[in-house]
Amino acid sequence: ESYDMGGHDTYMHKEIAEQAEAVDRVLRGRIDDRFATVRLGGLNLDAREARTMRRVKILGCGSAYHAGQIGAQLIEELARIPADAEPASEFRYRNAVVDPDTLYIAVSQSGETYDTLAAVQELKRKGARVLGVVNVVGSAIARETDGGVYVHAGPEVCVVSTKCFTNTAVAFALLALHLGRIRDLSVSDGKRIIEGLRKLPDQIAEILADEQRIAKLAADFADAKSMMFVGRVRGYPVAKEASLKLKEVSYIHAEAYPASELKHGPLALIEPATPTVAIIPDDDLLEKNRATLEEIKARSGRILAVAHSEQEKADDTIVVPRNEPELDPVLMGIPLQLLAYHTALALGRDIDKPRNLAKSVTVE
Ligand code: AGP
Repeated sequence: ESYDMGGHDTYMHKEIAEQAEAVDRVLRGRIDDRFATVRLGGLNLDAREARTMRRVKILGCGSAYHAGQIGAQLIEELARIPADAEPASEFRYRNAVVDPDTLYIAVSQSGETYDTLAAVQELKRKGARVLGVVNVVGSAIARETDGGVYVHAGPEVCVVSTKCFTNTAVAFALLALHLGRIRDLSVSDGKRIIEGLRKLPDQIAEILADEQRIAKLAADFADAKSMMFVGRVRGYPVAKEASLKLKEVSYIHAEAYPASELKHGPLALIEPATPTVAIIPDDDLLEKNRATLEEIKARSGRILAVAHSEQEKADDTIVVPRNEPELDPVLMGIPLQLLAYHTALALGRDIDKPRNLAKSVTVE
């Protein structure tokens, strides 16, 4: 893609619209149907290391951290390696125990975020194995890591991340599939995930085609002083990223919570003026999530669900296409990028350059 606006009014809109082709690019040339796996040329991790590592720790900031949370879940699910994500900005200051059996992964769009780079440098100094999941080829984090996976989202100009977030989640799905197939993921599960990955570009195009309806919904949210985003397990990082996106670009206050935590405190915030966006994939947690909708409705809270079918308890539902459950987070975040964009548009915000923010934070 070029820096040409191509008829879009903002880079944010252009970059949201580019996601089907961006995802196609991160997949291109990497799928290996013969062995139901993927080829990741620059990974620099041999099969023996992939089999013997005991943990995965993912580090990044902001949207990159949220994509890393999706990545950690994918690695646990597909490769059955304990994995978690942490803000690099926290990790670098807490004198963390650096474990030789842990694979560290730094995630960054720009590859220049100072907190993430400093975490990588500290880990390297202590002898850790650090890979990168990075968009900008040849950037500082790409150079300082031992290898990794390029995200191939293309240039991302808007301060708020959209296509790079999506492509990073897909890059993690590739990495998780690769690790899984070296470990204990079956051929049939490998094939199942590959089929799901191949469906993503068309399904993204299908979601984007619903933009006018999402724009109408966004007009209703522009008056909100505060919004709540909830999701369970796979839905939780999606809720966190959607909440960040809305805050960054519309300046509406938003909270993201695991749906399971609502009753432990945040339910007190729910009232008619605080709408909730609920991420509700049709997975094994569907009934639990429906019970959460009832709890919110009982407090007269307005609900927008992002789901695989219309949700009776929600005031509105954005229905997204079904894929393999592990890949739900990739698709469910996309309508919420449009929701943030159209809410900000309705409020007349400077969408590509939100106040107080820089595209990459290259200083302490
Ligand atoms: C995303 O919308 C923000 N621009 C911000 O959270 C960003 O993801 C973060 O600063 C990390 O940037 P990086 O991916 O370039 O490292």
